[in-house]
Amino acid sequence: MKIKVNGALRDSDADPQTPLLYVLADELGLRGPRFGCGLAQCGSCSVLIDGREVRSCVTPLATVGNRAITTLEGLPAYFAAQKGLSKVPEMHPVQQAFLDEQAPQCGYCYNGIAIKAAELLGDSPQPSEAQIRQALNGHLCRCGTYPRVLKAVQKAASLMAQVRS
Ligand code: FES
Ligand code: FES
Repeated sequence: MKIKVNGALRDSDADPQTPLLYVLADELGLRGPRFGCGLAQCGSCSVLIDGREVRSCVTPLATVGNRAITTLEGLPAYFAAQKGLSKVPEMHPVQQAFLDEQAPQCGYCYNGIAIKAAELLGDSPQPSEAQIRQALNGHLCRCGTYPRVLKAVQKAASLMAQVRS
C-alpha cells in the first residue's frame, strides 16, 4: 500500500488494519509521533491528515487512502506550502516558539501539542487564549507544562504573523 507522508509517496507492507502510528514509527522510522495511551486519549501520536489533527494510534492504515499525512518532521515544509514560501524554513513557527519558550519538559507530549497548535494557527492565525485552551484540551502533559505551552502558542502566532510570502 502507498501512503503520502510529508510530501513523499511511501510504501508499506503492513496489514491494512495496522494503526498508522506503527507504520510511521516502525516502518518509516519517523520519531515525531509517539505511542502514549494507544486509545485516542492523550494526543502524543497525532499527525495532520489533509490538515486536520488525527490520532494515528487508532487510525487504520487502510482508512488513509491518498490523503496527505504530515508529521512533526514535515511541519516546516507544510508551513512553507501553506504560506507559499519559496524556501522551507528550518522550523515551523510552532517549533521555533516551543524552543524559544522552552515549553516542553520531558517532551513526550510535544509532538501532539505542536501538531494541534499548527492546525489551530492554520485555522485561526490570532487565536484567543480561550481558543488555545479549547484546542489543546485533548492533549495531556504529565509534566504540567500548560502555562509554558500557552505562552509558546501565543508566541508562535506572533512569529507566523511576521512571515511574509
Ligand atoms: S497514543 Fe494516540 S492518543 Fe494516546
Ligand atoms: S513535557 Fe512531559 S509530558 Fe508534556
